[in-house]
Amino acid sequence: MAAATRALLVAAVTAAALFGTALGATYTVGAPAGSWDLRTNYTRWTSTIRFYTGDELRFQYPAAAHNVVESDQDCLRQLQQL
Ligand SMILES: *[C@@H]1O[C@H](CO)[C@@H](O)[C@H](O)[C@H]1NC(C)=O
Repeated sequence: MAAATRALLVAAVTAAALFGTALGATYTVGAPAGSWDLRTNYTRWTSTIRFYTGDELRFQYPAAAHNVVESDQDCLRQLQQL
């Protein structure tokens, strides 16, 4: 996976964590054409939406195959260097 895509994924997860108490719109990441996977083009997906503070991002994935972990700024920096 390209470093830019990896950084985008981490940023999206971080944004979802920060906006956990969202009051705005709710978006299912990648929907409707894709989902939270390695095939969806998130650059294209985000270009179709104007996000605002308070929006909620929903990551739908098979729990048997994946999980979600909280990351911090140091983790993001390390991923950006890969
Ligand atoms: C993802 O979408 C963007 C914007 O449409 C495009 O520039 C880019 O080439 C696409 N990436 C891939 C891997 O298809």
